[in-house]
Amino acid sequence: MKGSTAGRLLRLGAISAVLVVMFCRSDAGVRYDPASKIFRLDAGGITYAFGVNEKDMLQSLYWGAQLSTSDKFKAVLPAKLADIDPSTSIVAQEYPGWGGTIYTEPTLKVAYPNGVRDVVLRYQSYKISGNTLTVELSDIKRPLHVALRYTIDEETGMIGRSAAIRNDDNTDIRIDQASSAAWSLPVGADYRLHYLTGRYGAEWTLQERRIDPGATVIESRRGSTSHGANPWFAIDREGVSTEESGQVWFGVLAWSGSWQIRVDRNPRGDVRIVGGFNPFDFSYRLKPGESLETPVFYGGFSNHGMGGASRLLHRFERAHILPGAPKPKLRPVLYNSWEATEFAVNEKDQMALAEKAAKIGVERFVMDDGWFGARNTDHAGLGDWVVNKEKFPHGLKPLIDKVHQLGMEFGLWVEPEMVNPDSDLYRQHPDWVINMTGRPRSEARNQLVLDLARKDVRDYVLAAVDNLVSQNDIQFLKWDYNRSWSEPGQPDEDPADQQKLYVDYSHNLYGILAEIRRRHPKLEIESCAGGGGRVDLGIMAYTDEVWPSDNTDPYDRLAIQNGFTHAYSPAIMMAWVTDSPNWVNRRATSLAYRFLSSMQGGLGVGANLNKWDAADFSTATKMIAAYKQIRATVQQGNLYRLIPAEDEFGRTATFYVSQDARQGVLFAFLHSSTELTVLPTFRVSGLDPHRNYRVSEVGTTPTTDAEVRSGAYWMNVGIDIPLVGDFQAKAYIFEAIN
Ligand code: GLA
Repeated sequence: MKGSTAGRLLRLGAISAVLVVMFCRSDAGVRYDPASKIFRLDAGGITYAFGVNEKDMLQSLYWGAQLSTSDKFKAVLPAKLADIDPSTSIVAQEYPGWGGTIYTEPTLKVAYPNGVRDVVLRYQSYKISGNTLTVELSDIKRPLHVALRYTIDEETGMIGRSAAIRNDDNTDIRIDQASSAAWSLPVGADYRLHYLTGRYGAEWTLQERRIDPGATVIESRRGSTSHGANPWFAIDREGVSTEESGQVWFGVLAWSGSWQIRVDRNPRGDVRIVGGFNPFDFSYRLKPGESLETPVFYGGFSNHGMGGASRLLHRFERAHILPGAPKPKLRPVLYNSWEATEFAVNEKDQMALAEKAAKIGVERFVMDDGWFGARNTDHAGLGDWVVNKEKFPHGLKPLIDKVHQLGMEFGLWVEPEMVNPDSDLYRQHPDWVINMTGRPRSEARNQLVLDLARKDVRDYVLAAVDNLVSQNDIQFLKWDYNRSWSEPGQPDEDPADQQKLYVDYSHNLYGILAEIRRRHPKLEIESCAGGGGRVDLGIMAYTDEVWPSDNTDPYDRLAIQNGFTHAYSPAIMMAWVTDSPNWVNRRATSLAYRFLSSMQGGLGVGANLNKWDAADFSTATKMIAAYKQIRATVQQGNLYRLIPAEDEFGRTATFYVSQDARQGVLFAFLHSSTELTVLPTFRVSGLDPHRNYRVSEVGTTPTTDAEVRSGAYWMNVGIDIPLVGDFQAKAYIFEAIN
């Protein structure tokens, strides 16, 4: 290669790439121009601008592809639309209080004891420290201050926004609504909103709708993130943007409590996105001198379609959010006992499963629900985190030792925020649950939610989990959460403070998780909530992986995983190979199909290994070995959704490319063959066009006559994949050989 034209081209390419990076870097940063009163954040190929207008309002100006630093902005009020829509009502503001002539969704709404509910925020001052900008706003009459915080990530251009609301008055105020941010898009008529909805067993359904007049509200009122909707949005240009091209604006809220994101257009046609704490039933009293800080609302922009947007988001999550960032650990292959044994766990059977799991290459053995208290069904035991002596007469030690001897880590299921009324904990502390005085305590899955906002409850939960991990040699916790709130009150609190629950609960949860991790730095945690009910950038900072859904059917999972990866990285997306037919829909699929479906994220096995035959063990051993060769690429590479939803031939396909582009992995699935249709070729993305790649099928040994072609060939000519029949799957590894 040395001295060849291709080599020179490659080196020139590398040099110009460095120059481009240097150019962007030197332009990166946060600036304020006092002459024009304009703030600009430039990084990662994006520019974000806003300014102080003639009324001292903080006016939104631009969010999109990076502009030249010499480009100037002016913050000027738009002309009124009519007397009924004055300029001050239609101007896009960074953080509008509800007051004055605001008729669009505000970011802040407060009430004073004397009945005043008018807040008009005006610019005061700013501070820049590195890539963080803080802008202070104050009400025109009262000492109510809002510190808006902006950070920009140099690499991805992701902007983090939050607000701290401070009451410097000599009277209490009640906050009725506190959003994290308002985002505005350039005026345009062709926007399309993408968002995620779902329910138990069917999380992560991708929705799409035009942004017409009229609001779209996605939210959770459940006290947790929820299955019903997830705090993520993406907006692209209808008829212009595609999976891999065109402009996409997107955002995620780092919050695991009730939340809301509202997308609408103001009368001028500007698209606005307002998100943060859910204003429904929200009420937060600020005494003199107190403040409330909102969750962070992250926003990003890509010029490379929905695929580009999700790759940016994945990169940002790995580099800045996940534990271990910027280098989060790879997910070990795990075994989980739930679908195999449910509540009927005991020492002997778990040891037998562990032996079999170790043989196929599993690295972490997790015992699920049923090991503690009087937990034989979901009717009892939650809250009593002591080992069940009938099932484990010698404690957990013999099983844990055995698992370690087999060369695996040991993990345990817990659901620390919950209690069954039939438990010792509830008998001792019936006052510890979320409820309203004199009202029913509605149960779901026969359980109640502990009021984590109480200090005594928080201390109990922290101690219970800490004891468990200190007294047993545990490397991993699956932290579950299996119901939504109801009757969200705190009878022992002043009624004026009871709704603080919506804020304080999640803060205490984060505090407990942070403290557990501090005391046990090697412990890893999975966030589970009856499947994928608590996945967001808030919980992600404390948990290494998440459980996207209890639906383990490998075909259903293709859609679930497709929706999931629009917002969250495959680095945290656990997927188990379970029994066939699947419990969800009685669908039968081959073991190879099940593996290939699950190998697109963090691989786990949840099948009853006692029912497997020799052929199953051999397939599993081969697949797990192959997975270990590709997992860095799958988990931490770049994901291209080649065929995101089934095409007209019933195919879906994903392609993962390692960060250095030396390895690619193609997963291809066919729902069913029809009429001897000749399937088109699969063309991959993201390889280095100048390198040569050898392609071999996953699960088979590479042979000397394996196909070798350039990256350019695989991306432009493609690869034929012989998929015939129902629920067929194949995967191929592309390995660079030069
Ligand atoms: C929830 C989880 C499951 C399993 C059960 C145990 O439903 O999502 O994976 O752990 O609880 O009760």
